[in-house]
Amino acid sequence: MREATGTARLFHRLSTILLTFLLVPRLVGARPYPVHWADDNNGRQRISLNEGWKFSRFTSNPDSLSYDSLKSWILPSANNFIKGDKHQPPSGTPPGSNVQYVQPDFDDRDWESVDLPHDWAIKGPFNAPGVSGGMGRLPSNGVGWYRRTLTRSPEDEDKSIFLDIDGAMSYAAVWLNGRLIGGWPYGYASFRLDLTPYLDGGDNLLAIRLENALDNSRWYPGAGIYRNVWLVKVNPTHVGQYGTYITTSDVSEEKATVHLTVDVENGGASDTTVDVVTEIHLLDPATGTPGEEVVAQFEKATVAVPAGGKMSVSGSTAVRNPLLWGPPPEQEPNLYVATTRLTVNGTVIDTYETPFGIRSVTFDANQGVSVNGKPVKIWGTCNHGDLGSLGTALNTRALERQLEALREMGSNALRTSHNPPAPEFLDLADRMGFLVLDEIFDTWADRKTTNDFHAIFPDWHEPDLRAFVRRDRNHPSIIAWSYGNEIPNQSGSATGATAQALHGILVEEDPTRPSTCAMNSAGPGSPLADALDIIGLNYQGEGLGTSTDGSFDRFHAAYPGKVVWSSESASALSTRGTYLFPVTSGNHADVGDGPGQGGDGRDYRVSAYELYATSWGSSPDKVFAAHDAHPYVAGEFVWTGWDYLGEPTPYDGDDGARSSYFGIIDLAGFRKDRFYLYQARWRPDLPMAHLLPHWTWPDRVGQVTPVHVFSSGDEAELFVNGKSAGRQKRGRGQYRFRWDDVVYQPGNVSVVVYKDGEEWARDARWTVGKAKGLTLTADRAEIRGDGRDLSFVTVAVVDENGDTVPEAGNAIAFSVSGPGRIVATDNGDPADMTEFPSLTRKAFSGLALAIVRADKGASGDITVTASAEGLETAEVVIRAA
Ligand SMILES: *[C@@H]1O[C@H](CO)[C@@H](O)[C@H](O)[C@H]1NC(C)=O
Ligand SMILES: *[C@@H]1O[C@H](CO)[C@@H](O)[C@H](O)[C@H]1NC(C)=O
Ligand SMILES: *[C@@H]1O[C@H](CO)[C@@H](O)[C@H](O)[C@H]1NC(C)=O
Repeated sequence: MREATGTARLFHRLSTILLTFLLVPRLVGARPYPVHWADDNNGRQRISLNEGWKFSRFTSNPDSLSYDSLKSWILPSANNFIKGDKHQPPSGTPPGSNVQYVQPDFDDRDWESVDLPHDWAIKGPFNAPGVSGGMGRLPSNGVGWYRRTLTRSPEDEDKSIFLDIDGAMSYAAVWLNGRLIGGWPYGYASFRLDLTPYLDGGDNLLAIRLENALDNSRWYPGAGIYRNVWLVKVNPTHVGQYGTYITTSDVSEEKATVHLTVDVENGGASDTTVDVVTEIHLLDPATGTPGEEVVAQFEKATVAVPAGGKMSVSGSTAVRNPLLWGPPPEQEPNLYVATTRLTVNGTVIDTYETPFGIRSVTFDANQGVSVNGKPVKIWGTCNHGDLGSLGTALNTRALERQLEALREMGSNALRTSHNPPAPEFLDLADRMGFLVLDEIFDTWADRKTTNDFHAIFPDWHEPDLRAFVRRDRNHPSIIAWSYGNEIPNQSGSATGATAQALHGILVEEDPTRPSTCAMNSAGPGSPLADALDIIGLNYQGEGLGTSTDGSFDRFHAAYPGKVVWSSESASALSTRGTYLFPVTSGNHADVGDGPGQGGDGRDYRVSAYELYATSWGSSPDKVFAAHDAHPYVAGEFVWTGWDYLGEPTPYDGDDGARSSYFGIIDLAGFRKDRFYLYQARWRPDLPMAHLLPHWTWPDRVGQVTPVHVFSSGDEAELFVNGKSAGRQKRGRGQYRFRWDDVVYQPGNVSVVVYKDGEEWARDARWTVGKAKGLTLTADRAEIRGDGRDLSFVTVAVVDENGDTVPEAGNAIAFSVSGPGRIVATDNGDPADMTEFPSLTRKAFSGLALAIVRADKGASGDITVTASAEGLETAEVVIRAA
C-alpha cells in the first residue's frame, strides 16, 4: 500500500526491465527506488523520519521499565485491530514519565547519531555474551533508546498527524514529550500511533524504547528501528490506515471486475460530508507513473462521517481488456493504481493511492496453482529477513539484489519465513512478478525459545494478524497466507483449535485467499491439517533424511480437495567452493564428519557437491525425484534461497559458526554450485551447463576426483585433458550428470551438453596458476547519491591469466576515495568472525565482497581500491549521480 500521488511515478520499469534482466542480468542499470512523495496539494504528506536520531544501547536495564509494567498503556494501540471489547488505558500518569531519556532537556549529545533504518547489532563484535550461534552471536540483546525532535509548524495545527513505524525490534514503546502514547511488541509488525492529541506547537521530543531479551529467536532477529519510519500529515477527515481494500473477480483478458472499499475516518470535532471518487490508471512500466488515461472509475459516493467516527464506502467497476498481473516468464506483472480522492464541496482534502494487480489465482488438488487460468509450478524459496552483512536494516537495493539473483535462477515464488516482511519486499515482488506466501508466525502459545512470541500470543495474535492482512492484502503477488510454522505440539487438539481461530480471522480480513501452516510432523487427519486450506508440508512430503517414504500420497488421499505443496524443502547444506572427498555415490546423504558424509567439523565446512542435507532434509536431487513422482504436488519453497545470519547448522555449537549453510546463494551473494542445479530445473529452456569441482588440486594428483555437471540438457560428454570420459544420457529421476571415477591430473575438464541430439551448452574448468593479482567488479558502475543506493563490488584473487584462484584466502584491504564509503565487507564463509564493517577481509574460495554506498547528496567518482600482500592492487570507479 502506498499513499499520496506521485509515488507510483517511482515504480520501476516492469516487464521490459525484467525481460532484459532475464537475458542479461548484470546490465540492469541504476533505477529509482519507490519513494513516497510528500505533496501537500493533494491533502496528504508522508514524510520520512529516518534522519537525525540519537541512539544508545544498554546491556542491562537502565530505566527499570519492562513490557509488563507498560503493557496496559500499550495494548490500546491494538484497538483498531481487535473485534471484541477495546482496551481502555488505565487512568493516571502513564509509566516512564520520570525516566530521563524521555525528557526534552536530557543531554543526549554523547549518544550515537544514527539514521534509520538501523540495526544496532550488525556491526558486532561477534561472540556477544549470552547470544547463541543460532541467533548469530551478534549483540542484538539489551535495551535501546532512540530520541529525536519533531517540529510542528503553525499550518499543521489543524492536521491529524500519525507516526508510522514499518518495523522496530522489539517491544517498542513510544513517548512524546515525556508521555507514553503507545507501542507495539511484535518486532516484525508495522504499526501506527496517533500523535495528534499529544503534539505541541514548535519542538516535540519523541523517544522510543526497544528491548530484546536473550533467547527471543531461533535465528538472527536484528535489533533496533530497522525499517522506515514516516510522519503522515492529513486533514482530520482522511482515508484511514490501510484504508482501501481492492479485490478482483471474473478476470479474463476481455474484462475484469474490480471491487473497492474505502474507509474514511474523521478525527475532527465536527461531522463532515465527503465525496469519495476513485479512478484507475495503468502504471506505465517504463516510467512507473500512472498513465494519463482513466481506465475505469468507481461511481462517486457521498458519505457523512460523524466527528470521531469512521465510515466505509464500497463499489465495483469493470475494466475492459485488462492487462493482467502474472509471473514471468510466461506472464507479465502488469500493475494498476487506484487513486482515491476525498473532496468537500469540490476541494480535495485527501488523495490516497493503492497499487494493485488484476489476476485470478486458482488452487486445484490435482493441477496445483494456476494464475489467470495458466498452471504455474511453484519454484520458490524461503528466506529470512536479513540482508547478510547489512543485517536487518532495510535497504531496498540490497533486497532487490536478492530477488534478482533468485529470478536469474528461475525462481517464481517466495515464502516470507517466518514473519511479515518489509513493505518494500512486497512492492518488489509485485513489480517483479513473484508469487508470495506471506507468513506471520513461528510460534503460537507454545514456545520454541524462552522469550519468543509465545509470551504475548494471547494478547497480540489477533491484532497482529488483522494488521498484517490489512497492510498486505492489496498486493497481487500474495497468493496465500501462512499463519504458522512448525508449531510445537502440532498434532494436539489445542493446536487445531488455535488454527481454526486464526483461520477464522483470516477469512474475515481477506476471504479471497486461502491460508495454510507449515507442518513438519502433523499427519493426515490431525486437527491442524483439517483446519488448513492448503496442505503445507515441511520435509515430510519427500521423506525425512534418507527415508523415501514421504507423506505426499497420504495427505493427497486424506484431502482430495486440497492442494499439497512443500512449504519447506531440502535443508541442504554447503559451503561455496568447498569440495570434500570421497563423494557419496547416492543422490543424498545426511551430513556428518565421516567419509562420504560431506562435513568438516574442524573448519566448519560442508561439501559443495550438493548432495548433503540435515537429518530431516533432502538433497535437491532427492526432492526433485519425489516431486516428479507426485505430479499433483504444487511445488516447493526451498530452505533457503540465500544464506542468513544465525542457524549455522550443523555447526551451531559453542565455538562454531555464525551464519547458515542452507542457502543456494551464500551470505555475500555469491552463487554456490547448487544455484545451477535449480536453474537447470527451473529454466529448462535456458541453454546452460555448470561443471564442478574446480580443477586446481596439487594434492590430488592421481586421485579419484568426481566431476558433476548441472545442466538443462539431456545428454552430456565429458573430456578430461581432451580425452572423452564417456557420454551419458540423463534418465528419469536423474538431475545431474556425474562421472565419479575421474582421476585428477593437472590440465582441464570440459563438458559438451546436448538437448534432443543438438549441442546445447558447454562448460570447462582448468588448472590455474599462483595468485598474482586482484580484480574488482562492481554490479553497478553508477549509483544514486542519495545515501541509500549501493554498489556491490566483487573482488577475485586471480592468476596471471585473470582466472580466479579457487581456494585463495588472501587478506584483502579495502580503501575508498571520493564521496562514498564501504558499509560492509563479506566473503560468504559462515565461520568468519571478522566484524562486517571491517575494511580488511580474507578472500574465501577466491572471492570477497565490498558494499559501497554513495554519500547523501554526492556526485562524482568513488574509487574503491583493494590490495593484498604480494598481489597487484586493483581499483574500480563507481559514479555517484
Ligand atoms: C459545504 O457547502 C455547504 C453548503 O454551501 C456548507 O454548508 C458547508 O459548510 C460547506 N462545508 C465546508 C467544509 O466548507
Ligand atoms: C507443548 O509444547 C511445549 C514446548 O513448546 C511442551 O513443554 C509442552 O509439554 C507441550 N504440551 C503438550 C500438551 O504437549
Ligand atoms: C584441455 O586439454 C587439452 C589436452 O591437453 C588441450 O588440447 C585443450 O586445448 C585444453 N583446453 C583448454 C580449454 O585448456
